[in-house]
Amino acid sequence: MTNHTSPERDASRGTLIVFEGGDGSGKSTQAQRLATRLDAVFTREPGGTPIGDLIRSLVLDPDHTELADRTEALLMAAARAQHVDELIEPSLRAGRHVVSDRYVASSLAYQGVGRGLGVDVIAELNRFATDGLMPDLTVFLDADPMAARDRLGSDLDRIENAGAALGEQVVDTYRMLAAADPEGWVVIDANGTIDEVGDRVDAALGARLGL
Ligand code: TYD
Repeated sequence: MTNHTSPERDASRGTLIVFEGGDGSGKSTQAQRLATRLDAVFTREPGGTPIGDLIRSLVLDPDHTELADRTEALLMAAARAQHVDELIEPSLRAGRHVVSDRYVASSLAYQGVGRGLGVDVIAELNRFATDGLMPDLTVFLDADPMAARDRLGSDLDRIENAGAALGEQVVDTYRMLAAADPEGWVVIDANGTIDEVGDRVDAALGARLGL
């Protein structure tokens, strides 16, 4: 997969940095921390826009047990399309850096592999949804899935309810995606304190993007 870090990329354009990780990996905390340091636009998926937040509450509601896997994949993609058009792309064009807590790789991991819909079909769906917008860098916070699950507590959303098997598949998929695209991804050891992990994130951003 290509990204936007090629030498000819427009210098006046902002940078899109995405955080990925399993549930309870601490990625939301780290994504917010980085956004504050860079004075970047902070956003999250599913969500990031009023329409996206409506889709989020629909798709994560634990009462919606009848939601089909294909419906879930399409709703994630629909929220993302709105997110790209309404927030991410205009912000990048205005020269702002954008830090997003989750993006396309979440759908590859959760819907493509976790739900068994297939990585290729979900990738294709997301090329349409994003109009081809890829992150400049995806930061994968790699935490032990069992330890991360302990951190989650008992107030689980509909997808977290799907359990430990999905959690392990998700983490394995991120590891595979990161290994297949070392230019586009950086893997951070997510075990440690917020400051320890944050220092690793900062070092990686400096080395990879000069930020
Ligand atoms: P998130 O708010 O990141 O939850 P947490 O920070 O607790 O991990 O994500 C909500 C859930 O949505 C999470 O279980 C992962 C899932 N998800 C998908 O299944 N596919 C997607 O494309 C996205 C963006 C999220």
